[in-house]
Amino acid sequence: MSDSWEILRSECESCKACELHTTRTNCVFGTGNINADLLFVGEAPGDNEDKTGIPFVGRAGQLLDQYLYAVDIPRESVYIANILKCRPPKNRDPLPAEEDACMDFLRRQVKLIRPKIILCLGRIAAMRLIRPDYKITKEHGEWVQKGNFLITAVYHPALLLRDPRRKEEMLVDMKKIKEKLDQID
Ligand code: URA
Repeated sequence: MSDSWEILRSECESCKACELHTTRTNCVFGTGNINADLLFVGEAPGDNEDKTGIPFVGRAGQLLDQYLYAVDIPRESVYIANILKCRPPKNRDPLPAEEDACMDFLRRQVKLIRPKIILCLGRIAAMRLIRPDYKITKEHGEWVQKGNFLITAVYHPALLLRDPRRKEEMLVDMKKIKEKLDQID
């Protein structure tokens, strides 16, 4: 049977594959343009995302919006999802078993969207989607060809809130991503 957004969303909303379903308010499925060339993948929902069901709407999300604005990528033109669809308590890092249980949703989202570029927001997404030993401080902004996609990673906006000295590097990376997006359009 072929997959559809309706099936996928409803499976995600009723998912009990890991313990996070017991503490979630909302499943944070993903949002944006289902025909996007550019797919953002973050780590996991935080408190604001859990409350609203929408990814990247808290402080980190507002900072991400500023970068999107700065490089002229409308938020509505991209799709935004996370490795985990449910919030880990106290925003702890996802457990490997939680990632394993959740990855099929992201795989199916990628198949439906067929983006040209996947942008990992932060090390957790990069370690899952690029390489388990990915070093974000050394490798951020570098392109990796994986199957049909170009993948890269940038610092997680939550890290930039804690360490604003890295904001300049983030802007450079985001400009590179916009350039690549314009080239492959
Ligand atoms: N951080 C993430 O990784 N994802 C969100 O949706 C919000 C904050």
